[in-house]
Amino acid sequence: MNSGIQDKVVAITGAGSGIGEATARLLAGQGAKVVLGGRRADRLEAVAGKIRAEGGQAEWAVTDVRRRADVRALVNHTIEKYGRLDVLVSNAGVATVAPLEKLTDEQIDDMVDVNLKGVLYGISAALPVFRAQGSGHFVQTVSTSGLRIVAGQTVYAGVKNAVRTISEGLRQEMGDAVRVTAVSPGMIRTEFVGDRPGEENPAGLATWEQVQQVAIDPDAIARAIAFAIEQPADVDVNEIVVRPTAQS
Ligand SMILES: NC(=O)c1ccc[n+]([C@@H]2O[C@H](COP(=O)([O-])OP(=O)(O)OC[C@H]3O[C@@H](n4cnc5c(N)ncnc54)[C@H](OP(=O)(O)O)[C@@H]3O)[C@@H](O)[C@H]2O)c1
Repeated sequence: MNSGIQDKVVAITGAGSGIGEATARLLAGQGAKVVLGGRRADRLEAVAGKIRAEGGQAEWAVTDVRRRADVRALVNHTIEKYGRLDVLVSNAGVATVAPLEKLTDEQIDDMVDVNLKGVLYGISAALPVFRAQGSGHFVQTVSTSGLRIVAGQTVYAGVKNAVRTISEGLRQEMGDAVRVTAVSPGMIRTEFVGDRPGEENPAGLATWEQVQQVAIDPDAIARAIAFAIEQPADVDVNEIVVRPTAQS
């Protein structure tokens, strides 16, 4: 067992699939107590079931990160079940890949509400808990879309980079008690890069099929998040970038 992860209480949004699921399962396998948030109850229940079947500890709560009250309820549920919150992984995300002039108002609102405001709701819910405990760790899933700007990802990259900026400001404001990590995945093989008919594709590749061929397993990001969490309390891993070797 890894002593840096064992018994840590970790709440994860977007935990019913992809990177969130992989992170929950990896951390629970190393002795963390995980609480899964997301909108689809059946997915959360299934992931929690797998974790328990593997001998781990998991709870879940239906959470729509666009609702401040839901995110607060996820944090409260975590504390009710496990007595504390050591890490909040704000991982829920959505993207529509298209030039700005083709995005609908609803698609723009959704990217801002989930990817940016959802993270801010997480920070405001967990921050008083971390202050009271004298410790805590924010992990936010951002994106390489914000590092190599590609047409068609303008809004998505913009809100992910807003979270990157907020992470650095938060780190400075929180001082020595709270750690902040922004993880930037490249193309990861999840529902996120599934078949997306009608959408432009990222990184100038020809088809979504080719994106899926380049993409790597979500465990790569789970391992990066675990690395940040397992460090000693006085070590704060602030930025991690993980791309497929084949990504341009
Ligand atoms: N896959 C990639 O290539 C890639 C690259 C860079 C960054 N990322 C980022 O990685 C994160 C995880 O994505 P993924 O690749 O693992 O894709 P995914 O499997 O589609 O996971 C996204 C998760 O977010 C949840 N979600 C969406 N809207 C939500 C809402 N309003 N409230 C709560 N949960 C919500 C979804 O669950 P429900 O629908 O059940 O709510 C889903 O489980 C995202 O932030 C994404 O931007 C992904």
